Amino acid sequence: MPASPFIIIAIDGGAASGKSSSSKILAEKFNLLHVDTGSFYRHITYELLRRGVAHTDATALNAALADLKFGTQLNGRSAQMLIGGQPAGQEIRSQDVNSHVSHYAAIPEVRHTLLAYQRDQVNVAKQHNFRGLVMEGRDIGSVIFPNADFRFFLHADPAERAKRRAAEGGQDSIAERDRLDSSRKAAPLVVPQGAIDIDSTFISLDQVVEKMSALIAPKLP
Ligand code: DC
Repeated sequence: MPASPFIIIAIDGGAASGKSSSSKILAEKFNLLHVDTGSFYRHITYELLRRGVAHTDATALNAALADLKFGTQLNGRSAQMLIGGQPAGQEIRSQDVNSHVSHYAAIPEVRHTLLAYQRDQVNVAKQHNFRGLVMEGRDIGSVIFPNADFRFFLHADPAERAKRRAAEGGQDSIAERDRLDSSRKAAPLVVPQGAIDIDSTFISLDQVVEKMSALIAPKLP
């Protein structure tokens, strides 16, 4: 029997569209490394805020970016970014980070700093004997892995997404983040050409995962 191939699954979508929940289930089901790139942007944002580096101060920002040393550790099946050897804590989900992250993520130098790190997650997955990786974000199918084996785009009605975020107990400016993430010049949130579009407004998480799994399973028996 030939060895099954290493597969890459990209899941993009707006804030609270169900990317994390679905990708974590897929990771479990198919033995994949789960990579939440939103957490990377959040961790960098938290670190820059902690250092007092404003997103409007290009000189300080570039100096700080050049100084960041990234690493990766596993938290179960999820890749956790380390900055200066430190993992992110729950504070990357705070209201302060929610309201700043899209501003930092719009800066080309910030995105460039993360580009190779994100692609290198393939090597992390291989080193740990995963059968592939599922990476979620805003530009995974368009920029990071345009040739991914599967590229999904998750839609959900903004009111439904706000309800889901509130049910998690979080406070988030979902509509404002989507507006900023979709309108920026560098790698905006777009439905990548040829991506499989799934609207999860009226279907359950299980049904979303079922749709995805039905396509993936034949490739990963
Ligand atoms: O997935 P999330 O909501 O935790 O992401 C937080 C922010 O990070 C999001 O508002 C925009 C940014 N982001 C990005 O620009 N590109 C990605 N691939 C992932 C996240």
